[in-house]
Amino acid sequence: MTNIINSTKIFVAGHRGMVGSAIVRALQQQGQTNIVTRTRAELDLTDQAAVRAFLASEKPDQVYLAAAKVGGIHANNTYPAEFIYQNLMVEANVIHEAWRAGVQKLLFLGSSCIYPKLAPQPMSEDALLTGTLEPTNEPYAIAKIAGIKLCESYNRQYGASHGTDYRSVMPTNLYGPGDNYHPQNSHVIPALIRRFHEAKVASAPTIAIWGTGTPRREFLYVDDMAAASVHVMNLDKATYDAHTQPMQSLINVGYGHDITINELANAVGQAIGYQGQITFDTSKPDGTPRKLMDSSRLNALGWRARIGLEEGLATAYADFLTQNKPSL
Ligand SMILES: NC(=O)c1ccc[n+]([C@@H]2O[C@H](COP(=O)([O-])OP(=O)(O)OC[C@H]3O[C@@H](n4cnc5c(N)ncnc54)[C@H](OP(=O)(O)O)[C@@H]3O)[C@@H](O)[C@H]2O)c1
Repeated sequence: MTNIINSTKIFVAGHRGMVGSAIVRALQQQGQTNIVTRTRAELDLTDQAAVRAFLASEKPDQVYLAAAKVGGIHANNTYPAEFIYQNLMVEANVIHEAWRAGVQKLLFLGSSCIYPKLAPQPMSEDALLTGTLEPTNEPYAIAKIAGIKLCESYNRQYGASHGTDYRSVMPTNLYGPGDNYHPQNSHVIPALIRRFHEAKVASAPTIAIWGTGTPRREFLYVDDMAAASVHVMNLDKATYDAHTQPMQSLINVGYGHDITINELANAVGQAIGYQGQITFDTSKPDGTPRKLMDSSRLNALGWRARIGLEEGLATAYADFLTQNKPSL
């Protein structure tokens, strides 16, 4: 068994990112040693000729596509052209050139923002393409939807002739080691970790959170996401096919339940050891009241999240402190 695992050559695209590095950790924990990686400086995935040459010479057995241009609302609003162009190019190059190089198994990472703004909650896979997207990240979401459709189209055209078996997973909001704690360009958990840490260091008596604190959101620890990715990649084809459809082949990956922003802020405050008071700036917008994935498809395939918020936040805060050591 060990020999079979080690003889599988795996390319993890985006291995220096939060999710890609967690996928490498998960594969290594399984005893996988034949993992191929390239930094962006070594291989720009928007460069088709370079991707072609790389995949043709490496000929991996499997590809995890965790490279993408990723960011929060501010970045999506400010750089929409970069978000749509870079993500479309990376996906088209990696998926097409993987197919050309004979790769039969590929896992594409999408995002929960592919679902319509007003999708029924919890959002199930069949909500895809049933309504208008959230305008702020529409360019990013369109690129991610294209990635799913690339995988499905290659399966439909080349599945029988070439054994092409390209799968897609849609993570909910992720957090954990390797996150981006940038003051403007980060997601909600890393942004809160930074703010609570700075408030603690400054002994600030209060910290104001935007909005009413009542919107509900779902959060998954990144090592759980990596474990789910490996689980989905390794499902046998008959099982995967039995739980998906050729033109609706995506699988949601969520924690399983959501919490309010108020609950989240209190959990982050506790993880950081902030002693002051949390207030809510209700003059600021709340956003959508609830965003939760329906992960029943993945649960039926035998996978469930294991790492709770308290444990995950403690590790994430330790990572923040490591990343920000020189400025402390
Ligand atoms: N983070 C979340 O909450 C979340 C939620 C849902 C879905 N996802 C999905 O998960 C995937 C990974 O996200 P992440 O959070 O791990 O993002 P990340 O930390 O920003 O990592 C992305 C990685 O992709 C690499 N990359 C981007 N463009 C590239 C290019 N042109 N050539 C080579 N490498 C390139 C980046 O390299 P550099 O380091 O050189 O920039 C980086 O290492 C994405 O598909 C994202 O949509 C993430």
